[in-house]
Amino acid sequence: MKKRKKINLAQFLVHGPTYHSLGMWRHPKTIDRGYEWDRPELYQHIAKVCEKGLFDTVFFADLNYIADTFTGSMAPSLRYATQAPEHDPIPLLSFMSAVTKKIGLAATFSVSHSHPFYAARLWATLDHLTRGRAGWNVVTSINSNQAANYGEERQSTDRRYDRAHEFIDVCQKLWNSWDEDAVVRDHDKAVFADPTKVRRIEYSGEFFKSRGPLNVTRSPQNGPAILQAGTSAKGQDFAAKYADAIFAIQPRASDAAKYFDSIKSRMSDLGRDPDTCKILFGMQPIIGSSEAEALERQEEHNSLVPLDGGMAILSAHLDFDLSRIPPDSLMTEREEPELYRMRTRFRKIDGTPMTVSEVAARHGQSVGLPQFVGTPTSIVDQMQAFIDEVGGDGFMLTAIHSPGAIEDFVELVVPELQRRGMFRTEYKGTTQREILNQHD
Ligand SMILES: Cc1cc2nc3c(=O)[nH]c(=O)nc-3n(C[C@H](O)[C@H](O)[C@H](O)COP(=O)(O)O)c2cc1C
Repeated sequence: MKKRKKINLAQFLVHGPTYHSLGMWRHPKTIDRGYEWDRPELYQHIAKVCEKGLFDTVFFADLNYIADTFTGSMAPSLRYATQAPEHDPIPLLSFMSAVTKKIGLAATFSVSHSHPFYAARLWATLDHLTRGRAGWNVVTSINSNQAANYGEERQSTDRRYDRAHEFIDVCQKLWNSWDEDAVVRDHDKAVFADPTKVRRIEYSGEFFKSRGPLNVTRSPQNGPAILQAGTSAKGQDFAAKYADAIFAIQPRASDAAKYFDSIKSRMSDLGRDPDTCKILFGMQPIIGSSEAEALERQEEHNSLVPLDGGMAILSAHLDFDLSRIPPDSLMTEREEPELYRMRTRFRKIDGTPMTVSEVAARHGQSVGLPQFVGTPTSIVDQMQAFIDEVGGDGFMLTAIHSPGAIEDFVELVVPELQRRGMFRTEYKGTTQREILNQHD
């Protein structure tokens, strides 16, 4: 029998009250446990739980705006906490690193608004502080509210990614500006660093200039692991070139399989081994001790999500005001170009087209991640069926309440995955890149 490849698991988080479920902040189990979303202790706790569950990484999404996209008013975003407020996740990575040893610590940092020297320095420092466990989700921002916060205009896809390629190129040159053996630390001869092993980069491109070298020594992974979540052809090319892992939202396994093949063949075309970038598909587990209890929990959670909240967060993510189109029209039949990017999220798992309201409701529940509902055994059956159809590589999980839901997955579902040989039973390796590439 062919040995089953182990899957990868990431925990998807936001430094805010709602993560990816607008029901989360007022879920009875979130309220009960008394952990506050704006206290760092919650995230230290989550990092420890995920490390106990041998996850590859905990990963923060990040947006830099409070949207007025839906109806032209910020009121729905503020009222329903549609990933607003959202505190900066990056300072949390150091907090979480202080209480863990192996798990990857990743966050989103947009390349749209800063200079690559700043980013290269920040991420090399984080890679040092986490002892090689840092992961940078490299995004190019696509929301007009975010552009306006930085005094900019939203850019076209081509422009976003042309700039992003140059951004990463500069970062890599800066990370390489220190040779591995540049730090000599010879106290007797008074040589801290060998000057022949640290170079300027003299970069002059279309978007950026940088002289270098970086004033941070070479970090354990020589810069962080690179994560990405591009969807467009340009975004997929970018991910295929640089990423160690990709996060994707494809509710249907058939669409996930197409996305998987598209990325892996782009990698082969670039001469990269397709297995060196793991593609993790989003899912929201809802666990019960029986199928009936799991369905009740799903109903309880989903009923906590206000439709206008879903409309507001989906409008923001699409950068398109959904109040402009009838709520009962089919999303699959709309021709507005802004809607194209998320088209694979406009169908139910069985392929039925969804209305604007239905898509918005699901977006409010999970930003479009499919819900896997059932007992631990049936959730693992669903994960196994998905991976078998897609071909790999793993999942990115989001919770319905916090704390509590992540703990349940680790306590109840991880042992079943391990029993079936689908998931590791120990960490091998120390850096984020090594853990992502651990195959047994
Ligand atoms: C799972 C997932 C997570 C994402 N996280 C973020 C994020 O935290 N911040 C952000 O600005 N964009 C985020 N994005 C948006 C992507 O970076 C990307 O812009 C989007 O998928 C559209 O693709 P494109 O850039 O190729 O047009 C995420 C996308 C996905 C699928």
